[in-house]
Amino acid sequence: MRPTTRTRASSRANSVGVQAEDTKICVVMVGLPARGKSLIAQKVVRYLGWLSIEAKCFNVGSYRRNATPQPSASFFDTSNKEGERLRREAAEAAVADMCKWFRSPHNLIAILDATNSTKKRRQWIKDRCDAEGIETLFVESKCDDEDLIMSNIKEVKLTSPDYAGQDPEEAAQDFRQRIKMYENVYETLDEDEKHLTYCKIIDVGSHVIINKIQDYLQSRVVYYLMNLHIKPRSIWISRHGESMFNLSGKIGGDADISPRGELYAQRLPELVQQSAGDLPLTVWTSTLKRTNQTARFLPYEKLSWKALDELDSGVCDGLTYGEIEQQFPQDFKARDEDKYNYRYLGGESYRDVVIRLEPIIMELERSENILIITHQAVLRCIYAYFMGSSQEKSPWMEVPLHCLIRLTPRAYKTEEERFFANIPAVSTFREKGSKAEHQETEASSSRNSSPLIMPQVAT
Ligand code: SIN
Repeated sequence: MRPTTRTRASSRANSVGVQAEDTKICVVMVGLPARGKSLIAQKVVRYLGWLSIEAKCFNVGSYRRNATPQPSASFFDTSNKEGERLRREAAEAAVADMCKWFRSPHNLIAILDATNSTKKRRQWIKDRCDAEGIETLFVESKCDDEDLIMSNIKEVKLTSPDYAGQDPEEAAQDFRQRIKMYENVYETLDEDEKHLTYCKIIDVGSHVIINKIQDYLQSRVVYYLMNLHIKPRSIWISRHGESMFNLSGKIGGDADISPRGELYAQRLPELVQQSAGDLPLTVWTSTLKRTNQTARFLPYEKLSWKALDELDSGVCDGLTYGEIEQQFPQDFKARDEDKYNYRYLGGESYRDVVIRLEPIIMELERSENILIITHQAVLRCIYAYFMGSSQEKSPWMEVPLHCLIRLTPRAYKTEEERFFANIPAVSTFREKGSKAEHQETEASSSRNSSPLIMPQVAT
């Protein structure tokens, strides 16, 4: 690694045990509008956060909006001097805030989300970062696929604050005009910039060029980027139908589904059809009986993954929470205090599950529409990856049995819809600090609703 891009801080390990040394990286997005840059930027931030690597996105557009909330396309014309000045000021403010953010020792990766469309602008960012001891990794999304550009234009006009409250057709026209302004000056990363560290993603990952990748963290980001695509798609997740172990309040094991779990398995194809229509889907399950039994009526290709098996509860496997509290009182308490990091004796923690799920996440990112039927702790970890939930909250998230969740990644956030099967299930949900209670819940009606969650089994 070049000595010029290193800070003088001593080496340290982050909380996943990854030796991050003193590397700090600014991932500089490059690309015309509507090329999925913001989607990529958000995904990288969530992925790194999920792996306990502190990351933050600095979006130049949101700085520009402070002075110019809803500019028309002519604002982006390079012959518009006032527009140019305001845009440069926005970029300077974003870079200044980013450099300040990097001064905290835990903050490792920033994403500078902007078009950064000229060589001059890119060199300016590199010089600023070099002066602060921050490495730069330029990531260009280059895509000429008209369908994809159109779907991104549609998405931007629906979700960008630049067009909030405007007529959708006029917004789309203005946005196309804005893209033309950028096209007039756009310079792709090329031979002249061989001195830069970059990853150029062409046509949604069908061709990727990487240049001068030089350390572990950079290669980890690039590996993730190489697996990403920005085509529109959804992920569906569901827990298995209620199991015989759920009925008796036991955790772990490899029990069959209960008669009500069987009803959910029978109802699931209709629930999926209601949400996915005729989209092609692949179903992923764990290797345990309860997920395979739940998936068996679904008319799609199926794949079983060991990595989707439930969190291993070690010596507590097959016990109820009441029994765990009696037999392992210290552990019961320790788990309440730090559920994310607590590792069952001879078993796993949530943190361990996240690490074993990484290949699943990579494969998910490479895939299109996937339905995952899995277990509560695993579902919580997958959900946290897509929604950016914190490590404190995600292990306590209440996830209902007999409910299908649809997650759709969008440029600025992941959208969530819930479809309830209206089939009752036992509840053994235990809130932090409470005794293990085992009780019946009522079925919720079949509906789409976002954060409405019924209390269910905790793992
Ligand atoms: C914006 O002002 O919306 C973005 C500025 C840029 O990335 O060029």
